[in-house]
Amino acid sequence: MKGLILSGGRGTRLRPITYTSAKQLIPVANRPILYYGLEAIRASGIRDVGIVVGETHAEIKAAVGDGRRFGVKVTYLHQPEPLGLAHAVLVAEKFLAEKPFVMYLGDNLIKSGIQPLVQEFRLKKPNAMILLAHVPNPSHFGVAELKNGRVVRLTEKPKRPKTDLALVGVYMFDRHVFQAAKAIRPSFRGELEITDAIQWLVDRGYRVVPHVVEGWWKDTGRVEDILEANRMVLDTLESRIQGRVDKKSRVQFKVVIEKGARVVRSVIRGPAIIGEGSLIQDSYIGPFTSIDRGCRIERAEIEHSIVLAQSTLRDIPQRIEDSLIGRDVVISRSGGRPSVLRFMVGDASRVELA
Ligand code: DAU
Repeated sequence: MKGLILSGGRGTRLRPITYTSAKQLIPVANRPILYYGLEAIRASGIRDVGIVVGETHAEIKAAVGDGRRFGVKVTYLHQPEPLGLAHAVLVAEKFLAEKPFVMYLGDNLIKSGIQPLVQEFRLKKPNAMILLAHVPNPSHFGVAELKNGRVVRLTEKPKRPKTDLALVGVYMFDRHVFQAAKAIRPSFRGELEITDAIQWLVDRGYRVVPHVVEGWWKDTGRVEDILEANRMVLDTLESRIQGRVDKKSRVQFKVVIEKGARVVRSVIRGPAIIGEGSLIQDSYIGPFTSIDRGCRIERAEIEHSIVLAQSTLRDIPQRIEDSLIGRDVVISRSGGRPSVLRFMVGDASRVELA
C-alpha cells in the first residue's frame, strides 16, 4: 500500500499565520501537524508516501525533506491549484500506480493512529474505507448517513446535517476512486470533492466500509481547533527537563523543557512545553501552552496558547490566554506616558482587549 498526504490548499481560516506559513506546518506541542500524519502512516507499515503540495511547496519540502527522518520515502506531487481533494487524488494517479492507498489530510490529527484500520483494509479489501467521528458541529465537515451499518449518503458541509457523523480526514481506496474522481463535477465551492467521489462509489454498488473512530480526532482548520489539538497532544507528553530551571522557579505537572531553554524565577504549570533556547523569566506559563524555539517571555503570564518561534512577550499586565501568536512577534509594554496602545498588526489579524 502507498500513502498520500494532502498538504496543498490555502488555509484561509488561519490567516494571518498562513500568509507566511503552510497551515500543515503550524506546530502542535512544538512539532508541525504534518509530522504526526507522516508518523501515523509510517506506523501502519507504509513506506512509500506521496505528498501533494501547492503554493507552499518550498516550505513543506524544507520541513520534510526526502522523508528518511520519518522512515519513509517521500515523492512530492505538485497540484497547480487547490481544486479539491478528489483533484489531488487525480494529481497523484501516476504515483499511486493503481495500488491501494491511504489518503491522509495533512491538517488532521488522530490520537489512536491508523495502524489497525490500515490492517483491516488490507485484510477485507473493500473498495474504500472511510473514518467517521461524532462531532458537535457537523455542518463544518463532510457528513455521513448510515443504514444498518452501511453508508447510504455523504454530503459535504450540509447546512442541515442529518447526522452528527463527520468524515475524518483519513480515507483508504483501491483504484476505483480514480474513475469516481473523473466522473464527478465541481461542488458549490468549486472543488472536486472526495465526498462526492465516495458517494459515486456507493451509488454504483462498490463496497465502502465505514469505521467510527474512538478517541480524539482534530481537523486543525481554525485557531480554536489548533489550540484544542495542542491541548490534547500536550496531555500525552512525558515530562522531560533538558534545559535549566533555577531554584526560584517551580515546574509542576507534565512539562517538557527542551535543550538550551532557561526558566528563571518563574512558574511553569503543565502540561506545557518550552522550546529550545527560549527564556522564561519572572513569568507564569500555564497549562496547555506551547512556547516554541528561541522565544523570550519576561514578566508575562500566558496559558492555553501557542507561541511560535522567536517571539517575545514582555511586561504584559494581564494574563494572555487562548491565543495563537506567530513567529518573530513582539508584544510588550513600554510603561511610558501617555498610556496608549500601539500596534503594527498584519492583515487579517485578531486582537482582543478586555
Ligand atoms: O478534516 C475533515 C474534512 O476535510 C472532511 O470532513 C471533509 O469532508 C473534507 O472535504 C475536508 O474538508 P476541509 O474543508 O477541512 O478540507 P481542506 O480544504 O481544509 O483541505 C484538507 C487538506 O487537504 C489540507 O491539508 C489542505 C489539503 N488540500 C486541500 C485542497 C482543497 C490539498 O492538498 N489540495 C486541495 O485542492
